[in-house]
Amino acid sequence: MPKTPVIALDGPAASGKGTLAQKLAAHYGFAYLDTGSLYRGVAYLLLREGEDPRDEAAAEAAARRFSLAAVEGADIRTREIGAAASVVAAQPGVRKALLDFQREFARHPPGDAKGAVLDGRDTGTVVCPDATVKFFVIASPKIRAERRFLELKAAKPGLTEAEVLADLEERDARDAARADAPMVKADDAELLDTTHLTIEAAFAAARRVIDGVFRRCED
Ligand code: CDP
Repeated sequence: MPKTPVIALDGPAASGKGTLAQKLAAHYGFAYLDTGSLYRGVAYLLLREGEDPRDEAAAEAAARRFSLAAVEGADIRTREIGAAASVVAAQPGVRKALLDFQREFARHPPGDAKGAVLDGRDTGTVVCPDATVKFFVIASPKIRAERRFLELKAAKPGLTEAEVLADLEERDARDAARADAPMVKADDAELLDTTHLTIEAAFAAARRVIDGVFRRCED
């Protein structure tokens, strides 16, 4: 293959792309980047400093000084940080500040990995438009809310599935409507609906597509 193989997975919140991306990375020996953790990380830094995520100058400054090490060990997977992440993610200055890191990761995956797997909202459209294989991973809102509720409920007694569903729908709407790098399926992305799939079934379906593409690249 001529260049570093890249697998890009995009799609709405809690569609199953993160779990799938991690399994694919382990299977192919590729490095994995959860690009959402960058936006969540920026939101975390802002909230910790008492800044308003809607303040574009503060958000861009936080994105410029952001590093994964700066948020290591922090619980960035909360509802509040998810909501603030999608607010900062709509700001072009923030997206621009985080772009080079993502592209560099894809071009030169760390740890001498043979390739990279990225998941997020724009990895197949903006970050790596020439990715080797692209997926747009979806699932019904109800299933996504159920999955995210199971992840969050232990840390948040009293949380309801209806609240989680409302969060996801608000965030999806903001991510899809923004002008800069909106969440949208790339024309050449494979649509993968995980509503009725187990993790293993989604993993097998994705592998079939990827193995087919890799075989064609080798020919
Ligand atoms: O895990 P979940 O699907 O809930 O979301 P995430 O991947 O952690 O992303 C959190 C937020 O970051 C999203 O709602 C988007 O607003 C933003 N994001 C983005 O704009 N572009 C990406 N490539 C990844 C995430």
